[in-house]
Amino acid sequence: MSADKCKGEKVNGHVGCYRQQFSVAYEYPVHFSHDLFNPENPLLRSVIEVEEEQRCHRALVYLDDGVVDATPGIMKKIESYFSAHPGLVDFVREPEIVPGGERTKNGWNMVQKIMAAIGGNHLCRKSFIIAVGGGSVLDMVGFAASLVHRGIRLIRVPTTVLAQNDAGVGVKNGMDEHGMKNFVGTFAPPWAVLVDFDFLTTLGHSYWIGGVAEAFKVAIIKDAEFFEYLCSHTKELRARNAAVIEEVVKRCAMLHLEHIRTSGDPFEFGSARPLDFGHWSAHKLELLSDYRIGHGQAVAIGIALDSYYAWRKGLIREDELVRIVTALREAGLPVWDKLLGLAEDDGNLTILKGLCEFREHLGGQLTITLPDGIGKKIEVHDMDTDLIDDGIKHLCRLSSDGTGG
Ligand SMILES: NC(=O)c1ccc[n+]([C@@H]2O[C@H](COP(=O)([O-])OP(=O)(O)OC[C@H]3O[C@@H](n4cnc5c(N)ncnc54)[C@H](O)[C@@H]3O)[C@@H](O)[C@H]2O)c1
Ligand SMILES: [Zn+2]
Repeated sequence: MSADKCKGEKVNGHVGCYRQQFSVAYEYPVHFSHDLFNPENPLLRSVIEVEEEQRCHRALVYLDDGVVDATPGIMKKIESYFSAHPGLVDFVREPEIVPGGERTKNGWNMVQKIMAAIGGNHLCRKSFIIAVGGGSVLDMVGFAASLVHRGIRLIRVPTTVLAQNDAGVGVKNGMDEHGMKNFVGTFAPPWAVLVDFDFLTTLGHSYWIGGVAEAFKVAIIKDAEFFEYLCSHTKELRARNAAVIEEVVKRCAMLHLEHIRTSGDPFEFGSARPLDFGHWSAHKLELLSDYRIGHGQAVAIGIALDSYYAWRKGLIREDELVRIVTALREAGLPVWDKLLGLAEDDGNLTILKGLCEFREHLGGQLTITLPDGIGKKIEVHDMDTDLIDDGIKHLCRLSSDGTGG
């Protein structure tokens, strides 16, 4: 910890300033596994046991209702895990089922219930909250966990492709408030992330392939080799090949982790948000469609649109644009939706409002990330709306049946 004295002139009662500065290193493991709650699997045990602490901890488990419905016996299995490991935790109530999906991030009901349970069951800061579910449940439970005692240890067990390769491995959470997605939230790195690939087998297909869109996103701007891998495995991805999705989830999660670790801005103080490539229009499309279009599907359309733009700006070649769009479509992701063509009374495309909203969310200057060749990125601070319009027409023409799928 260091503090440099800094001289201040005595002006208008200002008598000087002491500049406070310190940094804190964060560390958490992200494990990839199968059959996490099989009592024979030592992984969960290993992250709860803290050698230096030599004590039993309390724990509460929260479970996404979509996972419970799709995985009969999961409640019993989790309970059996703790019974099979006596002394691991000195208190664990039966897992609490929470609503899955975006609705769980709407309103503070569940957050208050979790806070009350933490208090009522006398969990201290060193106790554990174990959240098992999709990105929405991880966000909501993570938000509650970050508030009580100013942060209680959170173990995330992500159960969707998106949660395993993106939402669940990072350092933040979010709740929908004030009519806006993720309007409220905190930066709160987890204690550990335990990815169990077996959960993916029960996931609905649109969520399954939707998560793959985030892999395309990060590959196009950060990793040309990974992009090649995705392009050459689109059919396997569409067919839900287990080995291929595991590889994709791992590589994508690594790229997200690397970005958080090396970007110099893990807590997003700056205006650049490189991992939001393709997202300015995606967020708007989700909203305009009243969430008919899933996040991953909207991201695929956003990637296609911004890639077209990058081609017109000379940032990528035409054959690279064709590869991106073809691979997305081969994987079963859309590259166009009729809502892209929706216009306001003044004739302007409604989707363009997404640019203003994106700028507002970033807090100042508009910063859009585009590919600069495959595997590299560039930031631009304004967008030519005529080119976006051309892009929308181009993608519409491509989708011969008019659906873009
Ligand atoms: N905090 C972050 O850094 C971050 C990053 C990206 C996205 N997110 C958030 O993640 C959320 C989206 O998460 P998501 O795509 O994981 O979807 P989701 O959490 O909304 O879940 C989608 C549906 O799948 C169900 N489900 C979950 N796991 C299942 C399984 N294994 N089998 C069957 N059904 C299952 C859920 O009950 C739900 O109905 C959004 O709210 C988004 O804002 C957060
Ligand atoms: Zn996303």
